[in-house]
Amino acid sequence: MTKNTTKPLLEVLKGNANSSLPVWMMRQAGRYLPEYRATRAQAGSFLDLCYSPELATEVTLQPIRRFGFDAAILFSDILVVPDAMGQAVRFEEGIGPRLDPIEDGQAIRQLDESNVVGRLAPVIEAVARIRDALPGETTLLGFCGAPWTVASYMIAGRGTAEQAPARVFSYREPAGMEMLVDKLVRASIDYLVAQLKAGADAVQIFDTWGGMLTDSQFERFVVEPTRRIVDGVRAQVTDAVIIGFPRGGGSRMPDYFHRTGVNAVGIDWMADRDFVREQVQTIGPVQGNLDPLCLVVGGDALDREIDLVLDAFSGGPFVFNLGHGIVPETPIEHVEQMVARVRAFR
Ligand code: CP3
Repeated sequence: MTKNTTKPLLEVLKGNANSSLPVWMMRQAGRYLPEYRATRAQAGSFLDLCYSPELATEVTLQPIRRFGFDAAILFSDILVVPDAMGQAVRFEEGIGPRLDPIEDGQAIRQLDESNVVGRLAPVIEAVARIRDALPGETTLLGFCGAPWTVASYMIAGRGTAEQAPARVFSYREPAGMEMLVDKLVRASIDYLVAQLKAGADAVQIFDTWGGMLTDSQFERFVVEPTRRIVDGVRAQVTDAVIIGFPRGGGSRMPDYFHRTGVNAVGIDWMADRDFVREQVQTIGPVQGNLDPLCLVVGGDALDREIDLVLDAFSGGPFVFNLGHGIVPETPIEHVEQMVARVRAFR
C-alpha cells in the first residue's frame, strides 16, 4: 500500500526542509512506558520480543500512538546481528546483554556470515508490518549498530564503561579486529538493505562507543567502516537516507560527516553547541542533543534545556531528539511536556 503524504522528518533528512521541526526519541519504545512493560511481559524474554513480528510491531507503534512522534524506529536491538552470526546473545533482567566473549581470531573466523538476513527474517517482517500500520506522515527508521560498537560487545561479552576489552583486543590482535569489522560491515549492508526494501524510509547507524577511540582508531574503526556501509547500501538502494550517530564524536564530527557520506548526524548531549552549529550543521542536518537526564527531572529545568537546544539549532536543518536513549525512570508527563514545547515552537 503506498501512502503519498509528506513525511516531515524524511524531508529534513534529505535536506529539503529547514522550516519543520520533527521530533522523536532514541529508545522511545521502552521501559518508561507501562504498555511496553505489559507487552514485554507477554513476550517472555527481550529477544523473544525482538523476534516476534507481531509484538515488535506493537511496541514500535506504542510511542507513536501516545505522543505522535514524527518517526517510528523499528523495535529490535543492535545485538541481533551477532546473534544471527551464531554468537548467542542473552539479555539478563536488570543487568543487560551477555554474550560468550570472543577471545581470538579463531572465534572470529567461526562467525557464520552465510545467512544473517535469513535468520533476521522476523525483524524484516516487523518492518513490513510497521510500514503498513503507520500513519502516512510518520517516517519509519530502521537501524543497525556500527561495527566498532557491535564488536565491542562481541569481544567483552557485555557492556563496559570504556570498552577496555575491545580496545585491548584491537592492539593485541589488529588483524582479528579488522576481520571482525569487515564481517560486520558486510552483515550490516545486507541487513540495512533488507530493512529499506521492506519499507524503512531511512536507517540510523548507532556508534554508541565511537568516542572511546584514539584519533587513528576512530578513522580505522568508525569512519572507514561507516563509509563502506554507506557506499554498500547505496550500491543497492541508490537514494538510501542514512543517519550516523557516533556518540562522543566531538571535534571529529565534520570529518565523519564529510567522509562517511551520511545524510545527517546525531549529536550527543556533551557536544559543543556553537561548534556543531558552525561546523557540522553547515554540512547537513543534525539530530539530537537534549540530555536524557533533564527529561527525568522535568519542570523548569527541562524547559530551559529544550530552549537551549532549540536556540542553538532551530535556525538550520534539525531533528529534535535526545543526545542518547531515554532512561526507564523518565515520567511520561515529561515526555508530553517536551513534545508540547517543541511543537509550540514550530
Ligand atoms: O530506540 C528504540 O526505541 C528502538 C529499539 C532499540 C533498542 N536498543 C531496544 C532496547 C535500539 C535502537 C537499540 C540500540 C542499542 N542496543 C544500542 C545503541 C544505542 C544505545 O542506546 O546506545 C546499544 C548499545 C544496544 C545494546 C543494549 N540493548 C544494551 C546495552 C541494553 C541493556 C541496557 C538497558 O537499557 O537495559 C539493551 C537492552 C534494550 N534494547 C532494551 C530496549 C528497550 C531494554 C531491555 C528490556 O526491555 O528489558
